[in-house]
Amino acid sequence: MTLIQWDSRLALNVGEIDTQHQKLVAMVNALNAAMQQGKGKVAVGQILDGLVSYTEYHFGAEEQLMDQFGYPESPTHKTEHVAFVKKIGEFKEEYRQGRLGLSVGVMTFLSDWLRCHIMGTDKKYVPHLIARGVR
Ligand SMILES: [Fe+2]
Ligand SMILES: [Fe+2]
Repeated sequence: MTLIQWDSRLALNVGEIDTQHQKLVAMVNALNAAMQQGKGKVAVGQILDGLVSYTEYHFGAEEQLMDQFGYPESPTHKTEHVAFVKKIGEFKEEYRQGRLGLSVGVMTFLSDWLRCHIMGTDKKYVPHLIARGVR
């Protein structure tokens, strides 16, 4: 079962952002599929590592856009990014050490966070960027 279905409510229509968000959605779905299929620790760990590094890459790209175009809500937006990076970094480490497994609860947290952040916090910068010519 696909955990997050990409649909038009997630599309922001600005720059490279949608492509990056689609990739993040695909990675969360891949992680969920690996969990459901009972994939081993090495395979799951690789998907998890990929998700963490791509998340950091995406946040960096988004923050650069916000800074470049003087988005006033950038500080609070960055605070959300920092908190999520900390959370998934801790999860990755606990998974590696065998202290925490992938669970429905973890997957729900990841997918809910991503969906809410895109549809709430990310969506808010769209008018500002579009007004400044970002396409
Ligand atoms: Fe964001
Ligand atoms: Fe984003």
